[in-house]
Amino acid sequence: MAGLLGSRLADWILENQPDVRVVGIDDLSGGYAENVDPRVTFYNIDLATGSAEPVFEAHAPDVVYHFAAYAAEALSPFIRRYNYSNNLVATAGIVTLCIKHGVKRLVFTSSIAVYGMGHRAPPFSEEMIRMPVDPYGIAKGACEQDIEVAGDQHGLDWCILRPHNVYGAKQNLWDSYRNVLGIWMYKHLHGQPLSIFGDGSQVRAFSYIDDSLPCLWRAGFDARASRQIINLGGIEEISVKRAAETLVEVMGGGALQFLPPRHEVPHAFTTWKKSVELLGFEHKTGMHEGLAKMWAWARQQPDRPRQVWASYELEQGMYSFWQKEVLKAESHGVKEFDSRG
Ligand SMILES: NC(=O)c1ccc[n+]([C@@H]2O[C@H](COP(=O)([O-])OP(=O)(O)OC[C@H]3O[C@@H](n4cnc5c(N)ncnc54)[C@H](O)[C@@H]3O)[C@@H](O)[C@H]2O)c1
Repeated sequence: MAGLLGSRLADWILENQPDVRVVGIDDLSGGYAENVDPRVTFYNIDLATGSAEPVFEAHAPDVVYHFAAYAAEALSPFIRRYNYSNNLVATAGIVTLCIKHGVKRLVFTSSIAVYGMGHRAPPFSEEMIRMPVDPYGIAKGACEQDIEVAGDQHGLDWCILRPHNVYGAKQNLWDSYRNVLGIWMYKHLHGQPLSIFGDGSQVRAFSYIDDSLPCLWRAGFDARASRQIINLGGIEEISVKRAAETLVEVMGGGALQFLPPRHEVPHAFTTWKKSVELLGFEHKTGMHEGLAKMWAWARQQPDRPRQVWASYELEQGMYSFWQKEVLKAESHGVKEFDSRG
């Protein structure tokens, strides 16, 4: 809960639902303790290797939001074991505890990575079959299936959200492998160009975090969200190049740098009707406004070391731009990261 969605939802609950007690778990591998409001009862636990059972015993939660994951999709083929351990095995542990402790609903944040490349033309809608193309998407798809089966067999109530490129204050800017807008901000703060994989014609849709927060809440508490899979956010489609240009406008400067393409879905955006109908999603914040708010926050952040993997599980096929030496050279201080954290 020390990452973007978890910490910001906690802030929203503390402000809007003052009678609700918030208990959070995180191993601080990808989030920061500074993101966690002091009113949250916080536990530092690695959910892949440790157990959250004492937390469930102590607090008997009614609703569990499971946000913990390492969401570096393009890196996942090179850290398969870590990916499945952090994203799938950790989720299996949470599902078990939710059943065992009679949790009223589990909200799981999956990803549009479950759609994959098999569907010729976006927008991707919730009833399409899962066709992921990388270990991250496979892990998210398997989590979804595990949760559905737990619902059928054990009566666990659930809601599965598939958020789409959410961004905003408290997002990790210091991870070299994920959160493209954060990476661009980090680079610009350190006098470097904004890197784009390929020609930037890939189409994505970005969502400002504030617009999703009431929906996250309703996913846990509204009867209409029960046993539903719902795409969340991403109403505004935009090419990656245009997104970078928008950020350059917001930051008042910055050059673009085009790198070799990655193995990724060329165009990925989703339907959003279900999120409007079931969760009351409202797209209030356009890209320019959302980026301006995030940039104002990013500029105030400490100059933290950048997270770079000490070694990958697989070196074959690793992209030139993710070679350790390359990342170290372009980073302003590095914190080496490996599967032991
Ligand atoms: N932000 C997005 O655009 C987006 C899009 C689709 C899906 N999601 C999903 O939503 C969830 C939250 O995303 P986010 O953007 O807030 O990511 P984030 O990285 O900001 O937050 C995830 C948090 O999980 C923690 N964590 C990771 N492994 C852990 C472990 N083994 N034990 C305990 N804590 C662990 C990290 O320290 C981090 O604070 C993730 O499951 C992600 O896959 C996010």
